Amino acid sequence: MARIFVTGGAGYIGSHVVKALGEAGHTVRTYDNLSTGNRWAVLFGDLVEGDIADRETLKRAIEAFRPDAVMHFAAFIEVAESVRNPLKYYRNNPANALNLLEVLQELAVPRFIFSSTAAVYGTPETIPVRESDPLCPINPYGASKMLVERFLADLSFARDDFSYVALRYFNVAGADAQSRIGQCYKNPTHLITRALKTALGEFPKLQVFGTDYPTQDGTCIRDYIHVDDLASAHLAALDHLLAGGGSDIFNCGYGRGYSVRDVVESAKRITGIDFTVEEAPRREGDPAALVADSSRITAQLGWTPRFADLDVIIRTAWDWEQVLKRKLVS
Ligand code: UFG
Repeated sequence: MARIFVTGGAGYIGSHVVKALGEAGHTVRTYDNLSTGNRWAVLFGDLVEGDIADRETLKRAIEAFRPDAVMHFAAFIEVAESVRNPLKYYRNNPANALNLLEVLQELAVPRFIFSSTAAVYGTPETIPVRESDPLCPINPYGASKMLVERFLADLSFARDDFSYVALRYFNVAGADAQSRIGQCYKNPTHLITRALKTALGEFPKLQVFGTDYPTQDGTCIRDYIHVDDLASAHLAALDHLLAGGGSDIFNCGYGRGYSVRDVVESAKRITGIDFTVEEAPRREGDPAALVADSSRITAQLGWTPRFADLDVIIRTAWDWEQVLKRKLVS
């Protein structure tokens, strides 16, 4: 069993990975500034409250823990916000990742798993998109993650004692099957969460951003992946590195796309609520279609998804939204 240091482990994806690591018997330490994360979301290991910009606190927390690997989730994640406020993204994502990597060099931490994103591809020329396809982000969020991938490639080339896996997430959604943890943001922007909160009456209507895309029904296509399948991809990447495997990059998606209208229809069916939907202009920074070729992670890491079904994703998210509403009210 290994010792894993997790930045952003109190956040949505990080907390599901911490859970999976803990359940697999690994020793975990979460490092999180709780700006968007929550203490209650950390189900295993300890939590050190700190910012990745605070190099001294970060170094002390890592040095005392002596990790075999670091998983780095702490980052800003909203495409539209990154278009409005790019420097905020370049500061927190690449600049602070550089801090972290320098600290890991100083402490000779040998393995790193990075939360990257399908947004590095921009508008892909071919769908499904493969890891070897050109990187051409169309928003600062994607560019900020691409920069960190470049740092990692150069660093692992320069150092024999450092290897990494970058996981390019497609659209992560869903929640823990027991509804212990799930997405919890102050201003959620993601489609599935917005749809379900609209069903719960927390928003008056759901806007569909763009109905004139060159897709079958005119709305954007995305590859939705259940957060617990994404968590198991991290464990597979960790096993790969612990077994001496080399640096690599993998798409994390199912290879199946759904339109915004598909999601709305599924959300209405599962909730049983005919919430108000309004057609709206396109949102800046949105590619028309983003679907993973996931054959590489399946073949090389033996990753086997267990929740590859839009209804399962939406059902677990719906169960969680109801628990969260009670949690926030009480
Ligand atoms: N959408 C709506 N209405 C909403 C919210 C979203 O129509 O209220 C649409 C968006 O315009 C987009 C689709 O639903 O077409 C999905 O949007 P999300 O905000 O749920 O997710 P994104 O595709 O913008 O981005 C997510 C992650 C990124 C990641 C990307 C990869 O936030 O980190 O998936 O596919 F890079």
